[in-house]
Amino acid sequence: MGLVEIKPRSFVYLLQPKPVAIIVSVDSFGKPNGMSAAWLTPTSRDPPLLAVAISPKRYTYELIKQTRDFTVNILDFSMIHESEFFGGYSGRAVDKFEKSKLTLVKSRIVKSPHIAEAVTALECSLYDEYPAGDHALVLGKVEKAYVREEAIEDDTYNLSKVKILLYLGGGKYTTTLDHSIT
Ligand SMILES: Cc1cc2nc3c(=O)[nH]c(=O)nc-3n(C[C@H](O)[C@H](O)[C@H](O)COP(=O)(O)O)c2cc1C
Repeated sequence: MGLVEIKPRSFVYLLQPKPVAIIVSVDSFGKPNGMSAAWLTPTSRDPPLLAVAISPKRYTYELIKQTRDFTVNILDFSMIHESEFFGGYSGRAVDKFEKSKLTLVKSRIVKSPHIAEAVTALECSLYDEYPAGDHALVLGKVEKAYVREEAIEDDTYNLSKVKILLYLGGGKYTTTLDHSIT
């Protein structure tokens, strides 16, 4: 028993599992692209802000810089295949939405659509961006927030009604318990 030392660069896996989202963005013609993202966190309630760490190599990063908005779509446990697909190919090479069964819904405020099958969908306008090592910290202002009706109780997820997809890293996933502990 006791602590063992690991390589500092492997620390990222020790801050997971984390919920998986598909970040949807559009090009200047309105054509959508999605990428899986687990490095997500709220940063402010007022204004409502979140941060997602996106590598500048991603097509998604290029699109968000161009059209200045995106949506965050949290997946449920049945959507591992979608997580792997949207995280395994670049929109530069593949039209991922054309090849997937996911349904895109027009957003109310932002140009990027959101995903009908998601547990939660957040419309975000680009608020700011900071360099952050090999990723960029992309801050979104949450303009609209939607959640599956049965998935929410007293503002938090009702875990008996929804199984959130959580990413451990290295291609491994898990999910939530079917109850909360207070
Ligand atoms: C579960 C999962 C989580 C991921 N999380 C992130 C992330 O938080 N930030 C990131 O830059 N890439 C992340 N990736 C990698 C991108 O999803 C992947 O490089 C994707 O192909 C980029 O697509 P794009 O070029 O169409 O934007 C993740 C991949 C998977 C499978």
